[in-house]
Amino acid sequence: MDHLLRIEHLGIAVKDLATAEEVYTRLLGSGPYKREVVEREGVTTSFFKVGPNKIELLESTTPDGPIARAIEKRGEGIHHVAFEVADIRAEMARLKAAGFQLLSEEPKPGADNKLVCFVHPKSANGVLLELTQEIG
Ligand code: CO
Repeated sequence: MDHLLRIEHLGIAVKDLATAEEVYTRLLGSGPYKREVVEREGVTTSFFKVGPNKIELLESTTPDGPIARAIEKRGEGIHHVAFEVADIRAEMARLKAAGFQLLSEEPKPGADNKLVCFVHPKSANGVLLELTQEIG
């Protein structure tokens, strides 16, 4: 059985969303299809389609939010890799049993009509992973 179905999107931490949107619009040849604030996560997101995949630009809504802290530590750049899954609770249980450290016990509503759960980078070679399931 396929567990992680595909890479759904790459999350990129940016200092200024409008500037980054201009860059990625120039790169990809078309603009973002959605902008969305996820207040609980302290981010404003902007989504671009790249074939069957997406790029998610992330700007912090607060000076001490997770994206602001990530940029402080490492500068702008790739923040997380998101995998599409068919059954997020089953995948969370599987990964937990397989030794991965989940950042939440329950899936949470994320941007772009998804349920999400993050996996701590220290259990995945320094990469923050996101499991994402479309809300049907
Ligand atoms: Co994401």
